[in-house]
Amino acid sequence: MTLHTDMTADPHIRIDALTFDYGGARPAVDRLSFDIRKGEFIGVLGPSGCGKSTTLRMFAGLLAPTAGSITIGGRDISHAPPWERNLGLVFQSYALFPHMTVAENVAFGLKLRKIGKEETRARVAEALRAVRLDAFAARRPAELSGGQQQRVAIARAIVIEPEILLLDEPLSNLDARLRDEMRFELRDIQTRTGITTLFVTHDQQEALTMCDRIVVMNGGMLEQIGTPAEIYDRPASPFVANFIGRANTLKARVAGGRVTVDGQPVPASEATGANGEALAVVRPHCVRLLADGPLKARVLRRVFVGSMIETELELEGGQRLIADIRPGDPDDALAHVGNIVALDWRGADLRVFGA
Ligand SMILES: Nc1ncnc2c1ncn2[C@@H]1O[C@H](COP(=O)(O)OP(=O)(O)O)[C@@H](O)[C@H]1O
Ligand SMILES: [Mg+2]
Repeated sequence: MTLHTDMTADPHIRIDALTFDYGGARPAVDRLSFDIRKGEFIGVLGPSGCGKSTTLRMFAGLLAPTAGSITIGGRDISHAPPWERNLGLVFQSYALFPHMTVAENVAFGLKLRKIGKEETRARVAEALRAVRLDAFAARRPAELSGGQQQRVAIARAIVIEPEILLLDEPLSNLDARLRDEMRFELRDIQTRTGITTLFVTHDQQEALTMCDRIVVMNGGMLEQIGTPAEIYDRPASPFVANFIGRANTLKARVAGGRVTVDGQPVPASEATGANGEALAVVRPHCVRLLADGPLKARVLRRVFVGSMIETELELEGGQRLIADIRPGDPDDALAHVGNIVALDWRGADLRVFGA
């Protein structure tokens, strides 16, 4: 037997300069390009209105791209009708047929595809097992919880054995507890079935906890693509740093490889790009308090949030930032409201962006 599978050499899906223009001030999706590998769980993350659903609708064939292309397994499907694409779709509203049983709902797509009775029965049973609803086949949607209904919607999407699963904010209608449970369930279902999945969400926590890689969108454009750790640890822009996790963004200057804030040199191991105005980004948990040092700040406020004390600080020039301090740490003793302290962090924890 010859093994000639190289997932990196040949992406399963290639999105190339994908653009959609509703005729507004600027395109809703603007020259989006990225690759997806077979079996990957890709998150499409960004604030409301950034073009996530429009991107998914182009995948599904519900919108034709204004420009650019989507290629699946080497075949350009950008203008293929929806029924020629082997896709499973799940939206925020489960849109189950209320008068049909769970099994009938799941069987619906197979009926449309004229699959025989016996095969339908077997595949519906398998899909219901995958979402752990085999005991609920005879119920109607109204007799299920929101999470169970959403699992029926997922079973209905995967029963057709799609090449790609498209999920548009599938957990948004669930209450907080159920949403947390369903995150793991959904990821588990995807891992077991191995279906390449595009998961749209505006929730950074969902994206960070569930996805192999995340595509961060802003204003129709790609801001960054990477693993959750890459996106969190090495955000490509102040937008990404602030959208994923919490971040302090400070006005800074770069000159001769040194970074200064309010005229004071600050720890920085990379002074990227050109000299001049810059934005320096540091996460709250990276900020340390010292009794003395060059970068002075006044403690404005302490907010106890359980595992942390969120400490708000003001630099001499008026810029504010947050330090997350662990109760009982040496920093904690310094963090009295009104105290003047010095701020410190590891050079590697500061990201510097040209303004
Ligand atoms: N049918 C439409 N007609 C005109 N503009 C639209 C339509 N649908 C979405 N838009 C606009 O396109 C942009 C992207 O929308 P959408 O893809 O739904 O974003 P998201 O899913 O990220 O919230 C928004 O500015 C939105 O107002
Ligand atoms: Mg949307």
